[in-house]
Amino acid sequence: MKDILKAPFIVEMCETTANMYRQGWDERNGGNISYLLDEKEVAEYLDINKVIRTIPTGFDATKLAGKIFLVTGTGKYFKNVQKDPETNLGIVKISADGTTAELLWGYKDGGKFTSEFPAHMMSHIARLEQDPNHRVVAHSHPTYTIAMNTVCPADERDFTHKLWQSNTECVVVFPDGVGVLPCMVCGTEAIGIATAEKMKDHRIVVWTNHGIYGTGKDLDEAFGLIETVEKTAQIYMLSLGHAVNIIPDDVIRGLAELWNLKMMDGVLDD
Ligand code: 13P
Ligand code: ZN
Repeated sequence: MKDILKAPFIVEMCETTANMYRQGWDERNGGNISYLLDEKEVAEYLDINKVIRTIPTGFDATKLAGKIFLVTGTGKYFKNVQKDPETNLGIVKISADGTTAELLWGYKDGGKFTSEFPAHMMSHIARLEQDPNHRVVAHSHPTYTIAMNTVCPADERDFTHKLWQSNTECVVVFPDGVGVLPCMVCGTEAIGIATAEKMKDHRIVVWTNHGIYGTGKDLDEAFGLIETVEKTAQIYMLSLGHAVNIIPDDVIRGLAELWNLKMMDGVLDD
């Protein structure tokens, strides 16, 4: 068996959580990441039939039966993942009946996966239906995104428009727009269902008064989506009430045409 601490998926997870922490997006235990792994790759590092213990999923995850995920632990700090991956991360396999997750590695102190496990797993289901190459769900608490969401209506078309109007990269990076949920109780199946519903049409979802979810085929893509929204939210907030030049709709349309992108409907004025 190869050394799992040198596995690319562990190394990348350590780097990503450290980067997110350094960005100031993940205070204390804020934020969580789940990464769908390739079974053959995991088998180079672990006996995938050796179950350490089982953990209830808390919802019906049968659509993900047999799939293996690397997931950050609940209550764990992104700041600490790199120095102790085996305590702060876990690798779990969803059981055939979807009611439990079989722990294959990690959560060494007896811990378990993030309290946002339902939102992560349901988002994986929704994104995999849209894109078979999808792999990562990342949740974070980026400051300016939350600030912008505090001063703007919780309306996804309006929120998306404001982002597209503030940075020419935005429509190119997320032509599918940003889904926005109202303020809800987090850590529940209900917020998982609502998030997954938005994930049918968007790769990014903002939770009002809470944070953001970014998804993608790898950690870089999920991180990059959050990074682009957060940087633009910062521009929006720094110029709040003083903006003189906002990107006109015909330029946003021109960018989408140049890159041959399908834009979220109903965002631009006709
Ligand atoms: P966990 O520590 O359970 O991952 O929760 C952090 C968080 O961001 C809740 O939304
Ligand atoms: Zn959170």
